[in-house]
Amino acid sequence: MCGIFGIAYRTEAPLALGPVLRRALERLEYRGYDSVGVAVMTSANSESVQVYKDVGKVSEVVGKYSIDSLRGVAGVAHTRWATHGRPSKENAHPHVDCTGAVAVVHNGIIQNYAELRERLAAAGHTFRSETDTEVIPHLIEEYMKALPPWEAFREAIGQLRGAFAIVALIASEPHTLYFARRLSPLVVGVAEESAVVASDLPTVLDHTRRVIVLHDDEYGYTAPGEVHVERGGAPVDLASRVVEISWTADMASKEGYPHYMLKEIHEQPMALAGTLSGLDWDTLRAAAEALHNARHVYIVAAGTSLHAGHVMALGLARLGVKATPIVASEVHSVVGAVGEGDLGVAISQSGETIDTLVAVRALRGAGARVMAITNVVGSSVARESDIVIYTRAGPEVAVAATKTFTTQVLVVNALLHALAEAVGNGDIAHVGDNMQRVPHMVSRVLQLTEGPIRELSRAVAGRASAYYLGRGLGLPVAMEGALKLKEVAYIHAEAYPAGESKHGPIALVADGFPVIFVFLDREVEKALMGNVMEMRARDATTIGLIPPGASHLAELFDSYVEVPYLDPYNNVILYVVPLQLLAYYAAVHRGYDPDKPRNLAKTVTVE
Ligand code: AGP
Repeated sequence: MCGIFGIAYRTEAPLALGPVLRRALERLEYRGYDSVGVAVMTSANSESVQVYKDVGKVSEVVGKYSIDSLRGVAGVAHTRWATHGRPSKENAHPHVDCTGAVAVVHNGIIQNYAELRERLAAAGHTFRSETDTEVIPHLIEEYMKALPPWEAFREAIGQLRGAFAIVALIASEPHTLYFARRLSPLVVGVAEESAVVASDLPTVLDHTRRVIVLHDDEYGYTAPGEVHVERGGAPVDLASRVVEISWTADMASKEGYPHYMLKEIHEQPMALAGTLSGLDWDTLRAAAEALHNARHVYIVAAGTSLHAGHVMALGLARLGVKATPIVASEVHSVVGAVGEGDLGVAISQSGETIDTLVAVRALRGAGARVMAITNVVGSSVARESDIVIYTRAGPEVAVAATKTFTTQVLVVNALLHALAEAVGNGDIAHVGDNMQRVPHMVSRVLQLTEGPIRELSRAVAGRASAYYLGRGLGLPVAMEGALKLKEVAYIHAEAYPAGESKHGPIALVADGFPVIFVFLDREVEKALMGNVMEMRARDATTIGLIPPGASHLAELFDSYVEVPYLDPYNNVILYVVPLQLLAYYAAVHRGYDPDKPRNLAKTVTVE
């Protein structure tokens, strides 16, 4: 959702703060691009902050208000993904109190804002926006009538219900940032000359590699060389909480690619190799045992991660484990059946998706143990799970998940391999051997398919709708391909089990309607060929992803792209790559920015 950042320097003399804030805004833009804003303490003696904010992209707002030229000793910055209140200048963050001495940036939702607002308005506070956030600076202001800033901040936080990551700047303490976290991520940097807090690790890494990842319900303050954190009124011992991060901030830059999405698609061989070499087989074997012993496995995830969950469910079924993939936000409909002996599996790139986190809590509350597959070390889902397996895809900046999906599937395949070994099922034993070849094979896929897909994407870009059809493991790939096309190219795309297409969806097919088929499993080839013929008979434009040298398949299609073949499970990784490229190039042909899909946020932290 929203991106937040704050920095306060030790110096008394104003510094060139503008470029620092701009850089932070650029990094955080993927978290929300409804509006942008900063608040600055122009000198250590100022009695109020200066606020610059507006709707628009970072580059537009930065240019309009000459953010680059700002000087000061401290500042906060925000990119907004609207929840309460439409995108507008008034609703943009930072929000300030009546005096302009308290500036707050916030990510999340304050559930009890209406009653707080009423109470504060009755006490004489003037509100200028429709947001839930604006109650926070006014609450702090109210408590500051009787208390020093830190105590006033602490009292104010105690009044808030809901989900939040907050950074506050208070003019009377120009070298200090106040912060709080509940459900929404927040990271504090540890440095001598500056104090830094941000919703995202890469933004902190621009300033220091020593960080503290805050846990739920922690709040505190930081000044250069000092971090103080409390939870439930008691100080938190931070001795073991400071971690040295090896990711450089530059790992999150575009490195010459026009968009992060394309960069991250091309990073997949590296991300997969990193995930492969980081696999902890002891943990995987323990996880496989937990799967084997589970009465029932409930796989909860959202969006792309859920597609990896479908791959897992199909593999588990093959190995005799009862598993149900569930949209995380629908967990309530199954939780009545969950109990001790069941196992939840939460798959989440960010580990912060609120629907998935809530599902983890519901499953654990019902007595199940939970295993997490996530990309972010120390994320909420990781911390709240019994077993954690990390994908090591590195930071993913593009809103559309690409390398995090393929690394999730690699981890799923490794788990299936460990389970197949444990139960002595030779059926999918070769998955483990082939896995080692996946990074190299993905490089081949990129080399072989990017040109033809780029060409093909022109035709798809001109259409209003498309179908993606597959059978078995081809279906999650079809689902992921369709999601990508919707997300970045804004083309209506649906995925169906190919056999199901006859039961309704085929009614739309006529006159060049594009239908994309995923042929990644020889076991279901014959039936799928029949489905291609049905679509051809209705004048669809048929496009096939097929194994190399399969002339009997090639002749079925108007266009086809050959994709190297390993085995159906590893093929999920190989065959999704051309579909990621198809969505990317269709978006570019249509003139859209694939890194900033409208209405979407990288991490959805509201239910
Ligand atoms: C993927 O392209 C989407 N941006 C979205 O569906 C995403 O996969 C979903 O929100 C889940 O995110 P998570 O993996 O961080 O939990």
